[in-house]
Amino acid sequence: LNPISTKADVVHHLLADRPRTPARATGHAFAPANIALCKYWGKRNATLNLPTNSSLSLSLGNLGAHTEVQGNDIGHDRIWLNDAPLAADTPFAQRLTAYLDLIRPPDTGFDVRTVSTIPIAAGLASSASGYAALVLALNQLFDWQLPPRHLSILARLGSGSASRSIYRGFAEWHAGTAADGMDSYAEALDIDWPDLRFGLLELSTAEKPVSSRAGMQHTLETSTLYQSWPTQTRADLANLHAALNQRDFEQLGQTAETNALAMHATMHAARPALCYWLPESLATMHKIWNLRAKGLPLYFTMDAGPNIKLLFLKESTPAIQTHFPTTRIIKP
Ligand code: PMV
Repeated sequence: LNPISTKADVVHHLLADRPRTPARATGHAFAPANIALCKYWGKRNATLNLPTNSSLSLSLGNLGAHTEVQGNDIGHDRIWLNDAPLAADTPFAQRLTAYLDLIRPPDTGFDVRTVSTIPIAAGLASSASGYAALVLALNQLFDWQLPPRHLSILARLGSGSASRSIYRGFAEWHAGTAADGMDSYAEALDIDWPDLRFGLLELSTAEKPVSSRAGMQHTLETSTLYQSWPTQTRADLANLHAALNQRDFEQLGQTAETNALAMHATMHAARPALCYWLPESLATMHKIWNLRAKGLPLYFTMDAGPNIKLLFLKESTPAIQTHFPTTRIIKP
């Protein structure tokens, strides 16, 4: 038996006994964007998107991707993003087509229409909800009836963080240890915390110069601080679980903020240094720390970009609106 070592091997394994021709005309699904409170940063296997550490996220309510997929008989893929056709030679379309190649029955093209409800400029990775919605739509189109953890693995092959966007609410992506990644999938956490809020602060709408994909690889290869990252994330995950079980907002916020800053510290110690922060990012951090020192329970997290995501409770909404009038408040 050959070991599972490529994306095609994984797909072959997961779909071995599943229908390979469409069972209906159209598959349609929604998947939410997600924000990690303990970040995925670094891969132990870059081919299969297997992470060095487990991560934990909260989805973004109704912000995400609606995807409709159909088979076509013109023999190539056609992709629409927010109703605009996407040229086949764009990197985005090429990545999507390479992904669809893994699933494609012979001589079949796909028509993929994705409408994103994420404000395009919000600096939120759209790949997570995009790949998760595509996998859910394909599952419906082919009537695979895959269990959630297999859907999560398929989404992971598109983009690591997409493994968590299969679910609404809190999700934990287990790093796993198996070489074939069959134990590296996300699961939903059964935790309801209706008073949590995110505030999206858009500090820059420019496209980031370094993708998270490239940034995490560069950090893993050159940063001496990276060796502390797995230890950091293990402690943070334990603290997040404790905070979630006790609905302890201070512990949740403090842990998420520390985790994001530790992730950025690993990048700052890379050679050459990788710094996604803008002067506005740092100014906003100081503003948050000042408000917190004055008694406002407010924390933040950041991904591989300059924008800041506020974390607070519903009761602080008026104060947040006063101090950050442009923030977009999201109920997860
Ligand atoms: O899934 P990717 O390759 O876009 O990586 C996402 C990395 C972070 O957003 C920085 C962290 C995370 O866990 O979402």
